[in-house]
Amino acid sequence: MNRRASVLREMGLAPVWRLRDAPGATVDSPPAEAAASAEVAADVAPVAAAPAREPAVLPARTAVLPTAPPLVAPARVATEDMDWAALEAAIGACRACPLHERRTMAVPGVGDRAADWLFVGEGPGAEEDLRGEPFVGQAGKLLDAMLAAIGLARGRNVYIANAVKCRPPGNRTPEASEMAACQPYLERQIALLQPRIIVALGRPAAQTLLGGEVKINAARGRLFDHAGIPVVVTYHPAYLLRNPQDKAKAWEDLCFARAALAPR
Ligand code: URA
Repeated sequence: MNRRASVLREMGLAPVWRLRDAPGATVDSPPAEAAASAEVAADVAPVAAAPAREPAVLPARTAVLPTAPPLVAPARVATEDMDWAALEAAIGACRACPLHERRTMAVPGVGDRAADWLFVGEGPGAEEDLRGEPFVGQAGKLLDAMLAAIGLARGRNVYIANAVKCRPPGNRTPEASEMAACQPYLERQIALLQPRIIVALGRPAAQTLLGGEVKINAARGRLFDHAGIPVVVTYHPAYLLRNPQDKAKAWEDLCFARAALAPR
């Protein structure tokens, strides 16, 4: 078995799927079990008390719709002029929401600052809070396997960040106000990176990026827009650890994202 096949097997995915040659966001059919999926509960509870809005969808690769505003109007931290060093220092010292009170370390993000791919998770867990790096626990191991399955690796053409940079107590879902307070940091990371694709891992990340109510199952397989950058939505690795039957769908989403990479 070659390395690619063994990686996919490690993710619980077999047989190996390949992208079709045709350009555009088309992927091979998923295995029967994935294709036959009924609605599966999204991985997190609803976040926002804000009114539901439809996020911007790219109807075609060339049509870029305006970015929707954040879920709630926060007192914005001004990050617009920050370089990477200033941004990371500001995140480390941030007190814009109550999450700073119980953090060990803020977790700004990690990876290649010239990356084509940006993966956005929800928020640091216990291990991330101790180490200051995103996705270093069990969910992170699965994320690494997911990256390997499409020929990527942490730190090589990939940057990994979170919707909130400080650990929500007990790993609860971040509140809308916390995500809004942290949003300028993610915005600045995106502006500095200018990735060719953003992958939203789970519902809080998708809602922060798309600015509205998002249901993962409805959003999968659609191309969204954030500030002119294509966004693809998939399951959070922690959800996939609890629901391994959906790993095949996550693989399908990553293939979709790879086919949707914006030109440089
Ligand atoms: N889950 C996340 O969403 N982010 C992390 O960094 C770790 C776990």
